[in-house]
Amino acid sequence: MKTPGKSRRQFLQTSITLGALLPLTALPYKASPQPFSIGKAIHPLKILILGGTGFLGPQQIAYAMNRGHAISTFTRGRTKPTTHKDIFSEVEQLVGDRENNLEALLGRKWDVVIDNSGNRLKWVNDTVELLKDNVDIYLYTSSTGVYYPYLGKDIRESTRPVLKVPAGITDIQKAEYDYGVMKANNEMTVMNGFGADRSILVRPTYMIGPGDNTDRFIYWPERLARGGEVMVPGKAGDPVQYIDVRDVAQWMIRLAENRKAGIYNAVGPASATGMHAFIFGAHAAFGSAVSFVMIPDYDFLSAQHILDAIPWIMPVGDNAGSALVSNAHAIANGLSFTPLAESVLDIHDWWNSESVTEERRLKLSDAEGSLMKREAAIIAEWKKRK
Ligand SMILES: NC(=O)c1ccc[n+]([C@@H]2O[C@H](COP(=O)([O-])OP(=O)(O)OC[C@H]3O[C@@H](n4cnc5c(N)ncnc54)[C@H](OP(=O)(O)O)[C@@H]3O)[C@@H](O)[C@H]2O)c1
Repeated sequence: MKTPGKSRRQFLQTSITLGALLPLTALPYKASPQPFSIGKAIHPLKILILGGTGFLGPQQIAYAMNRGHAISTFTRGRTKPTTHKDIFSEVEQLVGDRENNLEALLGRKWDVVIDNSGNRLKWVNDTVELLKDNVDIYLYTSSTGVYYPYLGKDIRESTRPVLKVPAGITDIQKAEYDYGVMKANNEMTVMNGFGADRSILVRPTYMIGPGDNTDRFIYWPERLARGGEVMVPGKAGDPVQYIDVRDVAQWMIRLAENRKAGIYNAVGPASATGMHAFIFGAHAAFGSAVSFVMIPDYDFLSAQHILDAIPWIMPVGDNAGSALVSNAHAIANGLSFTPLAESVLDIHDWWNSESVTEERRLKLSDAEGSLMKREAAIIAEWKKRK
């Protein structure tokens, strides 16, 4: 007679033995399939992506090709995509350098140019000049960084960006200003060259998702999956904002299809979210046992050099409103949001696949000075104070 208890024990024993034998190598990353309902666009477009092989680009390309659009990319040919690698064989891959070689773009016509790599004033100036008579729409990937210093409580697209880096600022402020001022001036260049009715300016907040090349947000999927005592910096209600890269990418393509000229913040989640709500929502992706150690004391955190743990940024001074950017206009124009736990799980799968090197993974968890490495000592220090 079959004894359920015994067969279950046998099954567990076999699984444990097999588990011990399985090599600990990462598996290939398989991007989630596009939803069936995606459908074809009514008017297929010829789209040029300046960039396209980093974080945002592959997601734009995958969605656009599924919608029936034809894609050309323009890069130096150095950055290799870590998501949707299989679709690049169907992409026209133009090679050049925005610094000094735009030859591959000469005499060509497209319906839309999406500028992901416009991170220098000269680069955007040159492509706007070259393409303005040969391309209908210029979609520029900007950033909520244009709002630095973040001083408002409901930062809308009508807020005037700073166009010049002020004097007498700290090095940290300068880095923030440099980026925001560069993005704001590039937006102006696009507007001046293409005109308001042919320019789409999208300002994403921190983008999260598979293929992220910044190694910022990955801390939370990795840390929460491991479980145990997890340090959470910040007060329960400290505002946080982030957006799944796929939501930005797909929405950009729809904005282009619909010729939705204008300026848009690309910010999630759908409603205002505090740090603790974010942590609980992200942890919902895993079955790990956790004990959260909440550290709401900004002085203590500052003394430990913890001023941010993206998406959390200590909401003080020039950063007081960094996560108070309005998404009302974007939502009214079709921006939608992937559930947080789904994003977190997908990021975790991607990070632990062969798309990411073991060296990169170890840097996050084991590098001297990394937050994960310092966490236990910080928690011990915090408990001692209390
Ligand atoms: N990550 C975030 O959270 C975030 C938030 C807000 C805004 N943004 C903005 O989002 C944009 C998208 O970044 P992404 O990495 O995801 O874009 P991407 O289009 O996926 O990748 C960037 C591309 O730029 C190309 N590139 C770099 N230097 C070049 C040069 N001199 N000439 C020609 N091509 C060059 C790279 O290829 P090669 O190296 O092969 O040339 C790569 O394909 C950026 O403008 C960033 O400022 C990002």
